[in-house]
Amino acid sequence: MSQIRNIVILTGAGVSAESGIDTFRTAGGLWERYKPEDVATPEAFARDPDLVLGFYDMRRAAIQEKQPNAAHLALGRLDAEWSGDLLIVTQNIDDLHERGGARRMLHMHGEHLNAWCTACDQRSPWTGPLIDRPACPRCGESALRPDVVWFGEMPYRMDAIYAALRAADLFVSIGTSGAVYPAAGFVRGARDLGVRTLELNLEPSQGSSWFHESRLGPATEIVPAWVEEILA
Ligand code: APR
Repeated sequence: MSQIRNIVILTGAGVSAESGIDTFRTAGGLWERYKPEDVATPEAFARDPDLVLGFYDMRRAAIQEKQPNAAHLALGRLDAEWSGDLLIVTQNIDDLHERGGARRMLHMHGEHLNAWCTACDQRSPWTGPLIDRPACPRCGESALRPDVVWFGEMPYRMDAIYAALRAADLFVSIGTSGAVYPAAGFVRGARDLGVRTLELNLEPSQGSSWFHESRLGPATEIVPAWVEEILA
């Protein structure tokens, strides 16, 4: 491991599953109970804003009762102790990585605890509901939407992500099914760049064959074990 200096970590819903936050595509996941096209597209928001706002209000309230788990805490420890470059790219919109101590990170699919004003473009910290159309703290318009990247919208910070992948020695994918692009394509890009690739997941993801190494198990077990190993 001595030749590893720069690490990029991609996380998905599986890293928050053991904190009690719903995944999307595993048994009982959100996309078994809701259709993405009904609650997670700009067209859905235009067609039925109350359904979409209610869906995100429910999830925003739920995450505020959850706690970071051992995987979040292990990644927070890695962030504090790793002397090389590190970037945690999360697809998750919860704040459990931050509450677990992560600092060098970004949310490529947005953040639950922000509201985005469609009138003035301001993003404001937000913990309450949006269903009752509250006023934007900056412009006063009742034009707030969840600060979440919906299907068909461009994920955030792609330039920073690709720059980090180009400089990486190791790419680690944790708790993601590899079902949604562009995140699902990062492993292939990493391999084309000669970056070492590792998957930590409960079961093989759709992109599993692209990883040099794949370790299977619950994140609260295999992530702390890997962090211990890489810091040794
Ligand atoms: N530990 C480790 N991995 C787990 C655990 C666990 N306890 N529980 C589930 N997993 C794994 C599953 O095996 C699955 O591969 O986490 C993955 C979760 O996959 P998804 O539910 O598809 O979530 P994710 O990959 O994050 O979805 C990507 O899709 O709907 C969009 O924007 C949404 O960000 C989301 C994106």
